[in-house]
Amino acid sequence: MKVIIAKNYAEMSKAAADIIRDLVNSKPNTVLGLATGSTPIGMYKQLIEYYREKSVDFSQVATFNLDEYLGLPGTHPQSYRYFMDNNFFNHINIKKHNTHVPSGIAQDIEAECLSYDKAIAEEGGIDLQVLGIGNNGHIGFNEPSDTLHVNTHVTRLKQDTIMANSRFFNSIEEVPTSAVTMGIGGIMKARQILLLASGPAKAEIISKLVNGKINTHIPASLIQVHPNVTVIIDEEAASLLLKKTNQIDCPLSWAE
Ligand code: PGA
Repeated sequence: MKVIIAKNYAEMSKAAADIIRDLVNSKPNTVLGLATGSTPIGMYKQLIEYYREKSVDFSQVATFNLDEYLGLPGTHPQSYRYFMDNNFFNHINIKKHNTHVPSGIAQDIEAECLSYDKAIAEEGGIDLQVLGIGNNGHIGFNEPSDTLHVNTHVTRLKQDTIMANSRFFNSIEEVPTSAVTMGIGGIMKARQILLLASGPAKAEIISKLVNGKINTHIPASLIQVHPNVTVIIDEEAASLLLKKTNQIDCPLSWAE
């Protein structure tokens, strides 16, 4: 696991966008796994800028998002489909039919979960998965639990996640209590993982993420065993890390 400490949010966003731009330039039909939330917005803005200055072309790229609220149609301003269209897809030359976000309103939600994983496999798998991290250690909506799911599934949101996400809704009662999310297996199958975190509120969970131990109550900790992970964090999110250098190579926990 490589940890890169960027000076601030802007530098974190640029470092992440550069990795994606370089990947798409080397493989035009890259399959990206994408995330919503406040953290990747700067990265999407930077990628839009790269697209406008013609240094990247998304015409052959396919994307799969991590998750969607259960019960929200893609036209709902707080749905993740709406977020992705407005923050990224509408501003680049990606083909809309190549962008995938799980449906939160499918009649048969179990079938939707199965077909989402099948579509990823049929596309050749995810080349690079972008992740944010919840204050409670969730990735996607894989919430802390004694057991974690491998495949895409429906999950109940933890109260701290509902609280954190209520900032986007008029009231906490409006926040959906369930979601469809890719499972830990889906995330771990990506050939490369890029986890981003910014700000002082993420410092504690980041120090737990890179501590060389795996715990299903910190779902993000599982990515430590993935062979190709880059964590890009700003100085505030890195403030509790012991070794404060520009780049830390964390050995896999079982190799220590
Ligand atoms: P955030 O959310 O980027 O808005 O902090 C991250 C997450 O909950 O995964």
